[in-house]
Amino acid sequence: MNREAVQHWIASAGQPLSGNVRVPGDKSVSHRAVMLGAIAEGTTRIRGFLEGEDTRATARVFAQLGVCIEAPSAGERIVHGVGLHGLRGSDAPLDCGNAGTGMRLLTGLLAAQSFDSTLIGDESLSRRPMRRVAEPLAAMGARIDSEPGGLPPLRLHGGAKLLGVETTTAVASAQVKSALLLAGLYADGETVVREPHPTRDYTERMLAAFGWPIEFTPGAARLRGGHRLTAIDVDVPADFSSAAFFIVAATLVPGSELRIEAVGMNSRRTGLLGALRLMGADIREENRQEQGGEPVADLVVRHAPLHGIEVPVELVPDMIDEFPILFVAAACANGRTVVRGAAELRVKESDRIATMATGLRGLGIEVEETPDGAVIEGGRLRGGSIESHGDHRIAMSFAVAAQLAEAEVRIDDVANVATSFPGFVALAKAAGMAMVQ
Ligand code: S3P
Repeated sequence: MNREAVQHWIASAGQPLSGNVRVPGDKSVSHRAVMLGAIAEGTTRIRGFLEGEDTRATARVFAQLGVCIEAPSAGERIVHGVGLHGLRGSDAPLDCGNAGTGMRLLTGLLAAQSFDSTLIGDESLSRRPMRRVAEPLAAMGARIDSEPGGLPPLRLHGGAKLLGVETTTAVASAQVKSALLLAGLYADGETVVREPHPTRDYTERMLAAFGWPIEFTPGAARLRGGHRLTAIDVDVPADFSSAAFFIVAATLVPGSELRIEAVGMNSRRTGLLGALRLMGADIREENRQEQGGEPVADLVVRHAPLHGIEVPVELVPDMIDEFPILFVAAACANGRTVVRGAAELRVKESDRIATMATGLRGLGIEVEETPDGAVIEGGRLRGGSIESHGDHRIAMSFAVAAQLAEAEVRIDDVANVATSFPGFVALAKAAGMAMVQ
């Protein structure tokens, strides 16, 4: 595995953040571009592909399934599509690494194939719930075995005849919705997926761009099996979730003014902006334009003092990956911040409510955990030691927290930052943050 060699960081208060930064490509879009490119007819060119462990694992899986994927340069992939029925089974297990998106979407796609597959993942992924995809796929006719508790490895039995169903997902999850839609490509009849709250719609948009007839509105999507995907060029926007660490760092560190260039601004991803603005943040959007069918904009972030808020529950799905860094903003805000309606955080790469609460308490912040959120009293951060539990977003969030701390913060178990944000340390240092590997 091509993991970052370092296992811990020492981070401490640095300079005000300044200049221009550009963060890597979007993880969700990169996964989907490889998947749809693989089962399309023709050659899909991907630019801005995220060179992260998660998305590279997905590309490796498709190579194992017989798809030729060239990597002419960093951030570029040429996927030679094999068509909807051209994948070849593999006797060896398919390793999704740390990627929940990879495993859940692949489950939908591979449950419909004529061959058997086994999906495995790393220690963290092996603890994440898969029943949420296995159960509704079984209702379509898929045959999937899992470990007790619905955990990976997943064994998918090929040759199942799938039937379209109409489902409302039990949780608001783009991964579950996407798995069902991908299975629906192969199903007889219509697949209709409704969600309790709208989630990111990249699968729907990309299916449409690859020429598959699909109807979708926020919170609902419907398609029929039996069409074909036609290769396109995909321009991957910069990942808002990676930009989030810089947005919060520049907001918190006095004297900062930072431009984050061409960030993906899909409205199902930018809930953090709404929350931070309610807290008093100064974030301007400039150069708004379309890139590969997605809105992008430069974000110009100036330091601003923050105050605590009750995070509006309707923002939660649109900022589901941003709670670790929101917790850091809350810890540095004046007053109390209340998060609720975010129980999903407990089943991410780590239990993000518990991991953040423990880490912040260790740095002197009062945090009360609740089953579906937390109450955070803003205060002064002192130095200390953080266990990130191998969770990339926890590690990067505490690197930001350290910029405001009175003494050094040691952050352990940081190798998984390479799953979503290769080059984070170099970029953070270039912007002004103080970190030693
Ligand atoms: C993702 C969906 C979200 C998100 C994850 C990426 C996707 O997960 O947390 O980082 O690409 O569909 P859930 O669907 O579990 O909410």
